[in-house]
Amino acid sequence: MCGIIGYIGTRQATPILINGLRKLEYRGYDSAGVSVLDTGAGASRVVRCRGKLAALEDKLTREPAAGTVGMGHTRWATHGRPSEENSHPHKSGPISVIHNGIIENHLTLRAELVAAGAKFSSETDTEIFAHLVEHALIAGAPDLTTAVRRSIAKVRGSFAFVVMSDKEPNTIVAAKNSSPLVVGLGDGENYVASDVTAILNETRKVIFLEEGEMVTVTRTGVAITDFEGNPRTHEPKTITWSAVQAEKGGFKHYMLKEIHEQPRAVADTLVGRVNLEADDVSLDGIELDVSKIKRIIFIACGTSYHASMVGEFLVESMARIPTEVDLASEFRYRDPILGPGDLVVAVSQSGETLDTMEAIREAKRKGAQVFAISNVVESSIPRLADYAFYTHAGPEIGVASTKAFTTQLVAISLFAIHLGRRTGTLSKERARELLAELVALPNKMRDIVESGAQIQAIARRYGAANGFLFLGRGSQYPIALEGALKLKEISYIHAEGYAAGEMKHGPIALIDEHLPVVVLVPRGPSYEKTVSNLAEVRARQGKVIAIASRGDNEIGGHSDDVIVVPDTALELQPILTVLPLQMLSYYVADFKGTDIDQPRNLAKSVTVE
Ligand code: M6R
Repeated sequence: MCGIIGYIGTRQATPILINGLRKLEYRGYDSAGVSVLDTGAGASRVVRCRGKLAALEDKLTREPAAGTVGMGHTRWATHGRPSEENSHPHKSGPISVIHNGIIENHLTLRAELVAAGAKFSSETDTEIFAHLVEHALIAGAPDLTTAVRRSIAKVRGSFAFVVMSDKEPNTIVAAKNSSPLVVGLGDGENYVASDVTAILNETRKVIFLEEGEMVTVTRTGVAITDFEGNPRTHEPKTITWSAVQAEKGGFKHYMLKEIHEQPRAVADTLVGRVNLEADDVSLDGIELDVSKIKRIIFIACGTSYHASMVGEFLVESMARIPTEVDLASEFRYRDPILGPGDLVVAVSQSGETLDTMEAIREAKRKGAQVFAISNVVESSIPRLADYAFYTHAGPEIGVASTKAFTTQLVAISLFAIHLGRRTGTLSKERARELLAELVALPNKMRDIVESGAQIQAIARRYGAANGFLFLGRGSQYPIALEGALKLKEISYIHAEGYAAGEMKHGPIALIDEHLPVVVLVPRGPSYEKTVSNLAEVRARQGKVIAIASRGDNEIGGHSDDVIVVPDTALELQPILTVLPLQMLSYYVADFKGTDIDQPRNLAKSVTVE
């Protein structure tokens, strides 16, 4: 989510750090900063500010940072609003730290450190690590590497850390757990970075660190170990990608990269929220008074609207609170009947969609409370709402939403479980099962996104079709709508999403041998009825692509193609079944050669009505 770079050598660090950060600008960010160590003076200077990199560059002309060792960071806020105090690097005594990821046990660690006398100057989880390293040194760690290793043992969560000490000016230490980290090898100088693109102008010789590894970097070498201190060796790789390809992590488009990032994004969205011991969910400290909520109304646009439609199923089934869904652009024009017993849930990836903002204003005017679910910390919608709950998908660059959608579904599932436990309509046992299934999702998602070849072959076969129909029942109906939206957006092929039970009421007239029909038919209460719909399509020579549960041996007899997804709880199936649809759209569009990341006529964030 954040971009990080570190340099140690003989040249001035600041321009190298800024050039590297500029390469990470595509991620989008809300603040940036550097810490540069003047080896001779044995002191580092931190310069950081809220806003784009240009603001930091401007500040550096007024407050230059000289030295040949340094680290730089672009922040995508997760804990703590975007502000200068919350920008990285964070310092504690001689220690400077930058971080990408989330420290899951940050509240406990902060309380322990405060009790031990630490003074915090930010709201971030990252600052904790600077204090931990300083404390480890005070407690007798012989060097920075050991202090970092001892501190890592206390931290739970995902991280890539880069750490420097004014007292060890010839060393940078970095560590990786579930967040990317690459070491760049130069001549008399070395680098660390979150993305290879940040250092590609300096070196093409790199080592990608594995999970659970840390590295001590000096001007003349790098020493890699695991977190226990056992040495690890890696052959350096030579990068042959172009800079643009490197930004996309080797993927052809941002959309494909973001499809592949979904397991990680879902895991990040779960971090710190799932309490498996208590069979409960923490909404980052938000406690809703469920006795006062008489009705829930989701409002959103586009893909976020489809996530909200799934939300209606989840909230009603788990919390038994009457729930409605409305398009934000329609909501405020129908003079909705609202009052203090209503909780409006506004879902928006960007947090800037004007229709959704105006719908929130209308809801607040009428006395409803507003709970926002967004991917962008401190964007307009969460600021306007009474409560803000964030997805941790990281910046989404492709216009067609993918990882934002699946993380919205995860956030809404957490919201529904939280409510269900408080209304008493979701048993402890069922909550336990659902939470265990949520935690298991990233691996199941990885399974699907890594099996692109079959979907690519199907896409090639149907890529010349003039139209597609997507069918699903229950919570698969919004997924049918989402599949159709994805295909329309990026391939410009007309597509309709329909509730499968509605097919006989009209769209069946469309079916002939030229129409591919994608049917969402995972195991569940609607399975048999959906199989009947599928048979009706086939009886009219329609081509059926079934999205079915792994191990379903019957469905092949009713379909032309079957794409299987792993089993999960019924409530969570949409999070898996949408993945093949995203991939199908992507490969059809790629086959047609459209501008996938920036499709015609669309914008990433719709800030006009
Ligand atoms: O940022 P938001 O979630 O509020 O955006 C809503 C829609 O504009 C957005 O989902 C749009 O439909 C996407 N292009 C879908 O891929």
